[in-house]
Amino acid sequence: MNEILVTEHLHKEYEGMTVLEDINLTVKKGEVVVIVGPSGCGKSTFLRCLNGLETIQDGRVLLDNEVINPGRKNLTKVREKIGMVFQSYELFPHKTILQNVTLAPIKVQKRDKAEAQKEALALLARIGLEGKKDSYPRQLSGGQKQRVAIVRALMMHPEILLFDEVTAALDPEMVREVLEVILALAKEGRTMVIVTHEMAFARAVADRIIFLDGGQIIEEAAPDAFFTHPQTGRAKKFLESFSYEKK
Ligand SMILES: Nc1ncnc2c1ncn2[C@@H]1O[C@H](COP(=O)(O)OP(=O)(O)OP(=O)(O)O)[C@@H](O)[C@H]1O
Ligand SMILES: [Mg+2]
Repeated sequence: MNEILVTEHLHKEYEGMTVLEDINLTVKKGEVVVIVGPSGCGKSTFLRCLNGLETIQDGRVLLDNEVINPGRKNLTKVREKIGMVFQSYELFPHKTILQNVTLAPIKVQKRDKAEAQKEALALLARIGLEGKKDSYPRQLSGGQKQRVAIVRALMMHPEILLFDEVTAALDPEMVREVLEVILALAKEGRTMVIVTHEMAFARAVADRIIFLDGGQIIEEAAPDAFFTHPQTGRAKKFLESFSYEKK
C-alpha cells in the first residue's frame, strides 16, 4: 500500500487538557482526505501535529515511514515534503508575487533562480495570475492572494498538501476561484488533507471524509455515505446545524 502519511494513536494535550485523542489515520498517495467537525474540535491542531508544528504527548506521525518529531534533526527535511496553506496567506508584503513564491525554493532548496522563476510563472499562468507577477500582495484580492499561497506551497514540490480553512476569510465571490484550484489539484492526483467548512466542496473533492468531534474521529466514510447517511447522532447534528446556517 502506498501510504504517505500515517498517524498512530496520536494524543495531543494543551496544558494538561486533551485536545486530540487516539487519532489513527492513514493517507495514501493520491488520496484526498477531508476533515470536518465543529469549531474547536481539534482540526487545526491535528494539521499542525502532522507537520511537526506541535509536540505530541503520545503516539506517532509518520511521513514516508519516517517519524515526524518536533526537535528532531530530520524535521526540516520532512517538512519540505509537506506543503501547508493556512487561512491567512502570510505573503511577504514587501516582496512581489514572483519573489514570494520563489523565495523558499531558492533559499531553502537552493534551486536555480531562473529555473524556479520559470516554474513559478508557469504555475501562476495556470491560475490566471501571470500578469500579477510584479505586483505586491496588497494589490491583490483575498482570493488572488490565497491562490498565490497555493502556488507558493506547490513550488516546494511537496508530497502532500495540507489546507486549513483556506477560504474562511474570503468574501463569498472569491471562495469559488480558490476551491476550483484545489479541485484541479485533486484531479491531478495530488495527495491532500483538507479542513473545510464548505460542505458541498468537501463532498465534491473528498475520497474520504473524517468527522472529528471532541478531539476524536467519530466517523470515517466515503463522502456520499457521510452526507446522506451519517452514522452517529453527533454527525447528524453537525450536518443539520450546517444546513440551518446556510438558510
Ligand atoms: N495554543 C493553544 N493553547 C491552548 N489551547 C489551544 C491552543 N490551540 C488550540 N487550543 C484548544 O484546542 C482545541 C482545538 O483547537 P483547534 O484550533 O484545533 O480547533 P478547530 O477544530 O481548528 O476549530 P475551528 O473550526 O474554530 O478552526 C480548542 O479547545 C482550543 O481552544
Ligand atoms: Mg481551525
